Amino acid sequence: MAAPPLAAALLGAFLALLLLVSPAAAEIRETVIRADPRTIIPLDEFGFSHQGILELNVTGIAFDPPASPDLDLSQFGFFLSTLDAWVHVLRQLQDLDVTCALQSDLVKLAYSFDRLKPPSNPAGVPVARSSSFSVAFRVSEPGQYTLVFANCLNGGDLKISMDVSSAMYNVDPATGQRAYLSVGAAALPSIYFLFCLAYAALVAAWVSILLRKRAAVFRIHYFMLAVLVLKGFNLLAEAEDKSYIERTGTAHGWDVLFYIFSFLRGISLFTLIVLIGTGWSFLKPYLADREKKVLMVVIPLQVVANIAQVVIDESGPYARDWVTWRQVFLLVDVVCCCAVLFPIVWSIKNLREAARSDGKAAVNLMKLTLFRQYYVVVICYIYFTRVVVYALVTITSYRYLWTSDMAREVATLAFYMFTGYRFRPEVHNPYFAIDDEEEEAAAEALKLDDEFEL
Ligand SMILES: *[C@@H]1O[C@H](CO)[C@@H](O)[C@H](O)[C@H]1NC(C)=O
Repeated sequence: MAAPPLAAALLGAFLALLLLVSPAAAEIRETVIRADPRTIIPLDEFGFSHQGILELNVTGIAFDPPASPDLDLSQFGFFLSTLDAWVHVLRQLQDLDVTCALQSDLVKLAYSFDRLKPPSNPAGVPVARSSSFSVAFRVSEPGQYTLVFANCLNGGDLKISMDVSSAMYNVDPATGQRAYLSVGAAALPSIYFLFCLAYAALVAAWVSILLRKRAAVFRIHYFMLAVLVLKGFNLLAEAEDKSYIERTGTAHGWDVLFYIFSFLRGISLFTLIVLIGTGWSFLKPYLADREKKVLMVVIPLQVVANIAQVVIDESGPYARDWVTWRQVFLLVDVVCCCAVLFPIVWSIKNLREAARSDGKAAVNLMKLTLFRQYYVVVICYIYFTRVVVYALVTITSYRYLWTSDMAREVATLAFYMFTGYRFRPEVHNPYFAIDDEEEEAAAEALKLDDEFEL
């Protein structure tokens, strides 16, 4: 079998892409910074259109050790930078053209802390420096920007604490409405809703097939129906989640529903692939011990994967431990994907052995072909949704970010349709309507097959 090299290839491609992934977080975000010595603190990312706004509310600014009155406050501030600009800024810093990223004219300075100074008053009464500010900064140059705080003073000896509340949005020039999703993600609510309708149609079609072919329906077919329904609800929750974020900047609880359905769908999909792979209910009514073990590995791992997914989504790309959780998620996902392939491989092996021992070559060849095909399709599905989609994220412009989500949903829909079509209930089981000629041809084919076995 080709399983080990393929799995290794999958894993390798994964590791290569691990560092390139950059999702688009776009919400009202609260960041708590406590005694942070970093000179550069990235906070959030957003894809702006021509009419973008950055809103910053910062409170509780404090320095550690406490700042003296003559502290040079212009060395602190928030700025926006694109990735391209940042590369040039790093060069400027290296060449000592500037000593602080805030001085570079390539970044968009949103707020410099020297504005915290109170206006000088003629009475000469000392007024305390403010420890909070609010600012709305206009962005008119479209691009994918990162919001960054810079502390350029004495190499990290001065730590800073503050509470940052940031919102980035685009304003529709016609209606004046705010859109809190990055410009490349604005189409996502409609896309998810369309796919949700597609799944509703699939559910209806599947139910009508189940009703018409009631005599040939196995338990696995009801399980397939459940997976379809869960996927549909998952997409509906995701569409609502994204559309609330788009309009208001927060998910209004739809994210919780989305996580619940994601979790159920993840578990049920992997279970379904395992069950089909073992031939459960249509080839045999029970699960062997090792097949149960696969399920016992996959289900808990899916739990971990979903926890990681929640942390990743809720915390944003620059939170502490974000990278760790991302790696946990990818690792667990790879293990699950590899694990679900084993039952299919075992079934293929069993069918080969059965073909040698009993006389029904044609029946076995048919089943063998079916399982081989399924094996290849599962691998293609995994490879496409895990590797190709991430590659698409990295190569497409921020404006077409939705294309990768669209590609993933198209691939998933195709996979569901293939699975449903190939394993649909059939009254006239083709396994029993075979004449001698076909039987002989199949026996030949199986013999040929053996010669090619690795
Ligand atoms: C900042 O404060 C203003 C005024 O209190 C408020 O309207 C706005 O929603 C706040 N923005 C953020 C991002 O918290």
